[in-house]
Amino acid sequence: MSWQQGACSDYMFNLNVFFICIYMLDQWFIPASVSRRDYYKLELMENHLMLQKVIVVSVALFLFWKIIKHIASFLKVEKEPLRVLITGAAGQIGYALAPMVARGVMLGPDQPIILHLLDIQPAAEVLNAVKMELIDAAFPLLQGVIATTDVVEACMGVNIAIMVGGFPRKEGMERKDVMSKNVEIYKAQASALEKHAVENCKVLVVANPANTNALILKEFAPSIPEKNITCLTRLDHNRALAQISERLDVPVGDVKNVIIWGNHSSTQYPDVNHATVTTGSGEKSVRQLVADDQWLNNEFITTVQQRGAAIIKARKLSSALSAASAACDHVHDWVLGTPKGTWVSMGVYSDGSYGIQPGLIYSFPVTCEKGEWSIVKGLKIEEFSRKKMDATAKELMDEKSFAYSCLK
Ligand SMILES: NC(=O)c1ccc[n+]([C@@H]2O[C@H](COP(=O)([O-])OP(=O)(O)OC[C@H]3O[C@@H](n4cnc5c(N)ncnc54)[C@H](O)[C@@H]3O)[C@@H](O)[C@H]2O)c1
Repeated sequence: MSWQQGACSDYMFNLNVFFICIYMLDQWFIPASVSRRDYYKLELMENHLMLQKVIVVSVALFLFWKIIKHIASFLKVEKEPLRVLITGAAGQIGYALAPMVARGVMLGPDQPIILHLLDIQPAAEVLNAVKMELIDAAFPLLQGVIATTDVVEACMGVNIAIMVGGFPRKEGMERKDVMSKNVEIYKAQASALEKHAVENCKVLVVANPANTNALILKEFAPSIPEKNITCLTRLDHNRALAQISERLDVPVGDVKNVIIWGNHSSTQYPDVNHATVTTGSGEKSVRQLVADDQWLNNEFITTVQQRGAAIIKARKLSSALSAASAACDHVHDWVLGTPKGTWVSMGVYSDGSYGIQPGLIYSFPVTCEKGEWSIVKGLKIEEFSRKKMDATAKELMDEKSFAYSCLK
């Protein structure tokens, strides 16, 4: 039942109660000059009239409400479409991500979308096939697809940019091997975004090394606010939630507030010290429920850290559907907000919180409201966590200097 229907039936209920009260009051005041029989005769007639009035008023109200609803449906203002850029759209994450965005998973079920798909010339044919499939899927929210190998055309007027394109890590490859290829790509795409995207464009970098690619993009697009450039660590966050859910045999939706600190790499620190599970008797701490510090401080951490490598080993390709889904979660929460009392992990520009050097894109716990993220402040950090948070920050500093050396 809609709120209008609810309000209307409440109104009619109140009206009827009002008439019944009037009737009951009336019963108390039978005038002495009138016999009770005559009075009841008159009263019966009056009651009939009253009932007729109630029916007429109720029907009139119902019709009035129907007419208003009908007019409102004509006046309904549809949202303006948002332009979402996916780079590397002919790749495997792109193939999983584009339909999710077109279906409203990322920006909500009432948000029309125009997809901008970018890839390089050798992938142009595959890219065009992706466009054909998106058209064939007849997504109601999808108002247009631009598939191009021209970075300027791709960035034109985009509201949200999901940077998936890049040189992917393959089995046996070190992350640093792909660094030099990617910094050049990100430098070029930064200036295209800066010049052609909308002023407040939100950017999510997925391609590895995600934190450092995002940093390069930030440095070479100085007019894009630093708050608008982020990188994906939500996949690691989701993996951590899933590991806890499996261990405790509870629905993953009942686990919250894990944290991924630092780099989207094997030095990341998945932290459960503030994580909770919603149980029948309220929220309980994950540490308390798992009751196995040995597992939480060792196997849990390495499983999350190495999950990407385990997928590559098994699939001979890096994670795609879970990465696409995590990218949707990241942008969804950033734009539409995090639920009250829940935080998520996002790679964001460090403001020095928790002693992390400014000038790095580092994964922090954040809450989002009205399209803005803020780092969750004041969490207690004990010795074990401090060391791990500093180790991953150190790797990011090294990556940053290495990236800069690649640019020269
Ligand atoms: N942050 C994360 O959580 C996470 C998770 C999984 C994968 N990744 C990374 O995401 C990236 C994409 O992964 P994938 O599996 O889709 O790889 P993929 O190789 O299937 O696709 C990459 C696509 O990028 C395209 N590309 C290359 N250079 C480009 C450029 N200059 N402009 C536009 N497109 C370009 C390629 O042609 C290809 O189609 C990789 O770097 C991977 O390591 C990140």
